[in-house]
Amino acid sequence: MIELKNINKYYNHGTVNEMCLFHNFDLTIKDQQFVSVVGSNGSGKTSLLNLICGSIPLDSGSILINGTDITSMPEYRRQRRIGRVYQNPAMGTCPNMTILENMALADTKGKPFNLLPGTNKQRIGYYKEQLHTLGLGLEDKLHVKVGVLSGGQRQAMALFDVYHDSHRVFDS
Ligand SMILES: Nc1ncnc2c1ncn2[C@@H]1O[C@H](COP(=O)(O)OP(=O)(O)O)[C@@H](O)[C@H]1O
Ligand SMILES: [Mg+2]
Repeated sequence: MIELKNINKYYNHGTVNEMCLFHNFDLTIKDQQFVSVVGSNGSGKTSLLNLICGSIPLDSGSILINGTDITSMPEYRRQRRIGRVYQNPAMGTCPNMTILENMALADTKGKPFNLLPGTNKQRIGYYKEQLHTLGLGLEDKLHVKVGVLSGGQRQAMALFDVYHDSHRVFDS
């Protein structure tokens, strides 16, 4: 469960460019709930995800995940509980690593030394199966570097990278 309690967020507070994005804002997202946030360009959707993920700080209020207050938890620690697909497909994937390496990295996320043991060969069949469901032929490109994929291919692959995370946010 994700809870936002009494959130306040301004950009450029106290200047002529001041913009109030959230004023005493509350939001509760229960387990298994799938929520779409709809709004025009510039209405604050990405900012909301940035606040939840800890990419930008709150002015006041608190954010809880499964009852634990994560308001002052740094972004890199929140990522252990949150999987994020960025609007910009260049974010959230490693361009110089192959599809297989990116998937293996995501698969072992949160475990210590997840880069060192290398790819678990027993999981390759599973990755191929997952990629096959996309219908983009990515299962035949496991050893291709992610940086040469199209933006859409990369975003689709990133969806699988967050598949196992308990809390997932997508910015489209
Ligand atoms: N770091 C920032 N500093 C100042 N203003 C910002 C910043 N990030 C976003 N904004 C402004 O906040 C508003 C909401 O932006 P954003 O959350 O990206 O909207 P959306 O994702 O809904 O299109 C926009 O007017 C944008 O220009
Ligand atoms: Mg946005």
